[in-house]
Amino acid sequence: MLPIERYFPEEEVVILDYATFKKMAAELTQIDLNSYKSQQMDRRINSLMSFWNLQSYDEFYDLLRKDPKRYKDFVKKLTINVSEFFRNAERFHELWQSILPELLKKPQIRIWSAGCSDGAEPYTIAIILHELQAQHRARIIASDVDRVILEKAKEAVYALNEVKSVPEELLPRYFDMRDSFYVLKQPIKDMVEFRAQNLLVDEYEENFDLIVCRNVVIYFTEDAKIVLYQKFLKALNPGGYLMVGGTEPILAYRQMGFENALTSFYRKPI
Ligand SMILES: C[S@@+](CC[C@H](N)C(=O)[O-])C[C@H]1O[C@@H](n2cnc3c(N)ncnc32)[C@H](O)[C@@H]1O
Repeated sequence: MLPIERYFPEEEVVILDYATFKKMAAELTQIDLNSYKSQQMDRRINSLMSFWNLQSYDEFYDLLRKDPKRYKDFVKKLTINVSEFFRNAERFHELWQSILPELLKKPQIRIWSAGCSDGAEPYTIAIILHELQAQHRARIIASDVDRVILEKAKEAVYALNEVKSVPEELLPRYFDMRDSFYVLKQPIKDMVEFRAQNLLVDEYEENFDLIVCRNVVIYFTEDAKIVLYQKFLKALNPGGYLMVGGTEPILAYRQMGFENALTSFYRKPI
């Protein structure tokens, strides 16, 4: 975080301090900023402040209240939406070869992509299910706190860099080209149901066989992560799996009640 004097030259009267601003912004956005690691959060808030050339936190808060576009940009900045199809492809191949075939011994399964961003993650799962000819046996729910990115997810139009890890033979099977964009085909779009949901605040549905939550908790505090994983455990059916991001192994998985199945996969015991 940059020193506060950088923003507030001595002659200015500062009414809102940073802590109060954060508290008020949290109330406004319903995003508990204290559940995010403070260094990254502070850096993002302060970089926006410089970028928009704001001199005080009062000015910043006022802008967020009055300018819907800036408000959206603020939420977006806090929640960074980077995603792509088959992100860390080897994990999705494990899902394809081993986890989903095991889960599909049941007639119907329920899957939740939590923090789904622009939809690349839940749609990757939909494509794999289609390849396994199980498209009618799975319900995929995908949620994110960012309503703007959910609209992009529903449109399902992607740039080359977002589909670069899709296996070559699958690209023409599941995407149409429009100009230089990749447009996901309707049957795959129809497999995913999108919802706005804040993982830190809102109630969770239950009875999931697979919960995928990747690259979302990286900015959460350790305490927030523990609460989240305990809620995921409760939301899973016995024998169900939690899939996490490559750089976020759950060290205390055993104490939390999970079994470690494969790298990045944790299982709720039967
Ligand atoms: C880096 S993207 C990860 C997307 C996808 N899971 C992946 O791994 O490619 C992180 C997403 O988490 C969402 N997110 C951040 N905080 C959240 C919260 N409290 N509740 C729900 N979603 C949240 C962001 O809006 C963003 O779209």
